[in-house]
Amino acid sequence: MTERTAKRDAVLDVRGLNVHITSDDGELCAVADATFRVHDGETLALVGESGAGKSMTALAIMRLAQSAHIRLSGEILLRAGGGGAVNLLALDPLAMRDVRGRLVSMVFQEPMTSLNPVLRVGEQIAEAIVSHEAIGWPAARTRALDMLRLVGIADAEARQRAFAHELSGGMRQCVMIAIALACRPRLLIADEPTTALDVTVQAQVLALIRSLQRELGMAVLFITHDLGVVAQMADRVAVMYAGRIVEEAPVRALFESPCHPYTQGLLRSMPNAARVMRGRGIAPIRGSMPSLTRLPRGCAFHPRCERAEPGRCDGDVPALDSVDDQRAVRCWRWREPALAATEVA
Ligand SMILES: Nc1ncnc2c1ncn2[C@@H]1O[C@H](COP(=O)(O)OP(=O)(O)O)[C@@H](O)[C@H]1O
Ligand code: SF4
Ligand SMILES: [Mg+2]
Repeated sequence: MTERTAKRDAVLDVRGLNVHITSDDGELCAVADATFRVHDGETLALVGESGAGKSMTALAIMRLAQSAHIRLSGEILLRAGGGGAVNLLALDPLAMRDVRGRLVSMVFQEPMTSLNPVLRVGEQIAEAIVSHEAIGWPAARTRALDMLRLVGIADAEARQRAFAHELSGGMRQCVMIAIALACRPRLLIADEPTTALDVTVQAQVLALIRSLQRELGMAVLFITHDLGVVAQMADRVAVMYAGRIVEEAPVRALFESPCHPYTQGLLRSMPNAARVMRGRGIAPIRGSMPSLTRLPRGCAFHPRCERAEPGRCDGDVPALDSVDDQRAVRCWRWREPALAATEVA
């Protein structure tokens, strides 16, 4: 989207991705016209309230959003290895299975649902390796043990023989990360990987993902609803609302001068010691995210937006405009002085 990012080849280049779902309540577009890139060694955070379409975006990239009720369109280009880009949406299921785990891996919010309860965790990591590489079980088991050590599991030799239910939540998430990274993928998708963990374990898991990213040079798509986590993890941020990306910016610019009223609202609703000390408490955004089957006309945020202009904001959907070579915003009024790059702290 931006000049800076266009000059470098991205590992992941998502263009005009749509996820249409036919549900009992009717048709909905869980992801509408999503366009973004993630580069080697870079973390793009995808942020927004629950129901924004973040997980659907991730599942579409992994081609795990597969059912007769779900229709994907657009392009998901993956540039990994020497060749050109591959459109993941055009791959047959067998080729996609090879991409999953080897080139692109995903870590989910709740590791217990992704781990096999009857297989020892060391074996699960080894299985991920033998399924993608021409390597025997003994060598895979040795690498699995190395992975457990790499993700900081104490007494890895004994723990490799544990079952998932014998480990703490934090340790299970570290095992999931070990499985995800066992084949050194080019892209890691982490979908709220620390939401179920307590604060200290969360900090350890975030630090682990950062250090492994540096070590392996991976691109990371980090999904969260928590702006505190965004501040710690992201290089760039894409803010999603009701299925659409509404703002994209480098992390510092987004926190210092958000352009979109929704981003401004998210920042105002974030607990922040400095704001409280200045006597400016938390101000939640009024209302809640609409159901995607009954989206408001025009800008879907207009019923909650303090800047909404009747006759304009409830007309057509605003386009994603470039603010500068690094930023973009989807709002009819972003150029107006009262709205442009507002400081919210
Ligand atoms: N299987 C499904 N059937 C119908 N609607 C779905 C299904 N999965 C997701 N959705 C819709 O997609 C929206 C986005 O979901 P999701 O991507 O999980 O949001 P997020 O991860 O941002 O919380 C949900 O609000 C819901 O309306
Ligand atoms: S388009 Fe209008 S309603 Fe939507 S965010 Fe901008 S000012 Fe608010
Ligand atoms: Mg989700």
